[in-house]
Amino acid sequence: MHIVFAASECVPFAKTGGLADVVGALGPELVKLGHEVTVYLPLYAGVRRQLPEELAYAVRSITIPFDSYNRFVGIVDGGCHAGVQYYFVDCPEIFDRLGLYGTGGVDYPDNAERFALFSRAVLEATKQLGVPEVFHVHDWQTALIPVYLRTTYNTDPALKKAGCVLTIHNAGYQGQFPPATTGQLLFPWELFTLDKLEHFDCFNFLKGGLVYADILTTVSRKYAEEIQTPEFGEKLDSVLQGRAADLRGILNGVDYAQWNPATDANLAANYSPEKLDGKKLCRAELLRAFGLEKVEETTAVIGIVSRFATQKGFDLVEQIAGELSEREVAVVALGSGEPALEKFFRDWAYWNRANVAVRIGYDDALAHRIEAGADIFLMPSRYEPCGLNQIYSLKYGTVPVVRATGGLDDTIEEWNSTQQTGTGFKFKGLNSSALLAAIDRALAAFEDQAGWKRLMLNGMARNYSWEQPAREYAAAYEEAAGRRRE
Ligand code: ADP
Ligand code: GLC
Repeated sequence: MHIVFAASECVPFAKTGGLADVVGALGPELVKLGHEVTVYLPLYAGVRRQLPEELAYAVRSITIPFDSYNRFVGIVDGGCHAGVQYYFVDCPEIFDRLGLYGTGGVDYPDNAERFALFSRAVLEATKQLGVPEVFHVHDWQTALIPVYLRTTYNTDPALKKAGCVLTIHNAGYQGQFPPATTGQLLFPWELFTLDKLEHFDCFNFLKGGLVYADILTTVSRKYAEEIQTPEFGEKLDSVLQGRAADLRGILNGVDYAQWNPATDANLAANYSPEKLDGKKLCRAELLRAFGLEKVEETTAVIGIVSRFATQKGFDLVEQIAGELSEREVAVVALGSGEPALEKFFRDWAYWNRANVAVRIGYDDALAHRIEAGADIFLMPSRYEPCGLNQIYSLKYGTVPVVRATGGLDDTIEEWNSTQQTGTGFKFKGLNSSALLAAIDRALAAFEDQAGWKRLMLNGMARNYSWEQPAREYAAAYEEAAGRRRE
């Protein structure tokens, strides 16, 4: 089957979070199963830098109309990698910017136009370069594709047989814009109603996708259940309940070619379950890099790599920072995002120079070194659709402490010291004392060296490769394509 991915992120071209890892890894895995995969991405400034000076245009100009003007888009051939064909949507005035979605923590004001243009350009491009059996679109940025398919383009003979699968990577980001967006994007006003594109007086990209896609998926079974409740549904719970029969939870996999301590080129030393020594070297190197070389061997090192967003629950860490500083524990954190959270981490490190260090920014190699060098990996997320870092941590023998939500709950099993089973530590409530209790359980376990080694090895033995999820996606594509054949 031919599947077209339309996404706003994909490794190695453009990344702000796990969406990029997923889009980058799923394609090659589907190719292994015998499918044909084409990926469309915006040609951001960061992508431009990875391409040759002379761009290879597959399509020179496509007209994308707006209310009072047209934009003209080129499609750049990005070549074939690991069996996957890449195309970049080129519209410099819209995409040739350093940030993917904004700058300095503020969204670009024209994001509705940017991602509507991208979505429509992908549909137009496929008419020249190959219409797939199924479009697989990801998050709000490409959620207008199913809307266009079943409204503006519903009588297009080239596209009307194409199915569409929408994956929700994060229901917290919906692409909500003023009602006037309807007219700007040339949608008829009849679509701006509660059962279609309108949501709480806004034009809502994700909601449109939820209404019009053939099959919906999200990135863990638990999150598929959670988003149907008011607590996690981000006000889309009733829409999702209405489509429960078409909603699947497919847990993300991991690209072990990128995330494996036995082969990871970013590390001071490689290691494996059979030969763990290298992890000690990674720990020492990490502490040196963060200026924490005085940390004792008996002190547990907690690692954090994250977008600093409210979603990630670091406000809970802030509430226990004082108490944690009294424990025998060191913290290394890498992240960037909301100014208040960056400030908290900076201040925490400033007042606890011997034990807490933070790097504000985005650094892929350092993320790998933290996965390898830390003893414990902390993810206290308020919600977490899947979460990849806790799964990477398992492979790196770095024990996750997580909040029992979404994919964190699905992938981490509480350590049972009597039976020597489990892979990490979980807490349920949304309060800092539950978090502190989970960290304390981890610190107590860390004192028992033999038990800790078992716990590490339990995690390292878990396999979250893409093979199984890719089969589940293939089944979802089959279902979506089937509906269009009816
Ligand atoms: P989310 O997509 O919500 O950010 P995930 O756990 O699914 O969460 O994925 C996050 C991905 O982004 C991981 O690959 C992680 O290593 C990476 N990442 C997040 N923040 C940073 C950072 N500051 N530097 C480098 N990599 C980061
Ligand atoms: C989102 C979610 C994260 C998930 C990732 C990839 O950004 O926040 O939990 O792992 O998408 O699906």
